[in-house]
Amino acid sequence: MSKLSLDRILQTQGFGTRKYCRGLVEDGEVRINGEVIENYKSTIETEGLKFTVFDEEWDYHAHLYLVLHKPANFECSRKPSHHPGVLTLLPEQFTWRDVQPVGRLDHDTTGMLLMSDDGPFIHAQSSPKRHIPKVYVATTAEPVTDELVAQLLSGVQLHDEPEPLAAKICRRLDDNQLEIILEQGKYHQVKRMLAAAGNHCAALSRTAIGQLSLTSLGLKEGEWCYLTTEQIALLVPDSL
Ligand code: URA
Repeated sequence: MSKLSLDRILQTQGFGTRKYCRGLVEDGEVRINGEVIENYKSTIETEGLKFTVFDEEWDYHAHLYLVLHKPANFECSRKPSHHPGVLTLLPEQFTWRDVQPVGRLDHDTTGMLLMSDDGPFIHAQSSPKRHIPKVYVATTAEPVTDELVAQLLSGVQLHDEPEPLAAKICRRLDDNQLEIILEQGKYHQVKRMLAAAGNHCAALSRTAIGQLSLTSLGLKEGEWCYLTTEQIALLVPDSL
């Protein structure tokens, strides 16, 4: 149980400065259970709270854990330069809460992008020590051969890496498509591994992180959802 004043609730949820949030309440723009609350000092239980701002309903979240189905031509960087940033696909107040991608996908990679405003969670989830598997489906320029799959499984040497990098799992899905599961998360890893193995990545999509698949979330490209506690618990290595 945790009670907060209404202005503080709105501020923590990213609706603006404390002063601006007080103004929203005093202007009658905030409702709880259908009732306009005009006293910003009202203390309210946050657990399970639903509130309405400008006629749009929101759930209270102490921290945000989201999955975005990232479309191509969006950048994960905080200061995007050539394409719009992925944050533009989320409600504006999430940006004020400092939501950020957990790791990055290239601008032309599509698929599952985890996003959060919980620093320790982002840190833990991105840590190479955790070996969280990430599942990718790559479309290749050249046909997928047994030799290519064997090379990716045994390890390929990338220029700036001390050791060869190997896929945890790799299997051919189609003439020009393979599934590859990686645990390392190096820069452009799938594309560089395919290039080092003599092929070329023509398109790439991330389909799962840990035991949580994008399909199970039922998101179309550009859509996002909150993760439940049960779904967050699936973002772990399968050996746990
Ligand atoms: N590997 C890549 O090459 N690109 C991505 O976006 C993710 C993994």
